Amino acid sequence: MSFFRKKREQSTLASLKIPKHLAIIMDGNGRWAQKQMMPRVAGHKRGMNTVKEVTKLASDAGVQVLSLYAFSTENWRRPADEVSFLMKLPVTFFDNFVPDLMANNVRVTTMGDIESLPANTVEAVHKAVEETAANTGMILNFALNYGGQAEIISAAQALAAQVADGTLSPQEIDKSNFEANLATGFLGELAQPDLMIRTSGEERLSNFLTYQSAYSELYFTDVLWPDFGAADFQAALEAYTKRDRRFGGLNPKEK
Ligand code: IPE
Ligand code: IPE
Ligand code: MG
Repeated sequence: MSFFRKKREQSTLASLKIPKHLAIIMDGNGRWAQKQMMPRVAGHKRGMNTVKEVTKLASDAGVQVLSLYAFSTENWRRPADEVSFLMKLPVTFFDNFVPDLMANNVRVTTMGDIESLPANTVEAVHKAVEETAANTGMILNFALNYGGQAEIISAAQALAAQVADGTLSPQEIDKSNFEANLATGFLGELAQPDLMIRTSGEERLSNFLTYQSAYSELYFTDVLWPDFGAADFQAALEAYTKRDRRFGGLNPKEK
């Protein structure tokens, strides 16, 4: 890459507002494969390359948390052979991705019911989490067997149990202890995505971060996840930079 081209890319990135927490609904793998006359699972395999690329782009841009929707609580409804392929993906994926993560100081975390996944999937995920646990850069947060409604119900159950054993009164349930019991509790003030991207042209959240997306900026693109690259990432950040986030209040200039 020429010096001038590099310079230009750096200056455009510098002029962009960078979301602290970026969440992505990685959709369109199956359609990508079908377009190339390949089986759906070929799209999932290809989508893993995009995960690697986008992780590097986000980390280099200064994103602090990148949450990726990898498998939803509803994805069990798919044919058994597709589900079984998706369950095997983390095993090979983390095997060759962890060195990259170490080089980029990225820490892996998860959301969702991991323990109900097949044993070797659980093992691969735990291993990646442990190996990267001391990294202090971007948090790469995988939603695996995750559903926003299930997450809210489980927070309600945890608080109800505290009420039942007398350690909490119903009046004491508030935003702070409710949020601490969500799967994003460990992220503290970074729990709510600033920007949520969905690829593949679908314009819905499909049970992703249902509670936390209350004030997220939403960005939809027709690009299919395996085709999503640096230019698409940049376009999403450009759109985000132009958004006017008010959180129910007014802009400083309007006050
Ligand atoms: C997203 O791609 C990946 C998962 C949901 C696991 P899809 O598999 O949903 O691809 P489309 O939407 O069928 O094209
Ligand atoms: C959402 O995509 C889940 C993931 C990206 C993991 P889906 O493809 O499952 O969503 P729907 O079925 O189109 O809403
Ligand atoms: Mg889909």
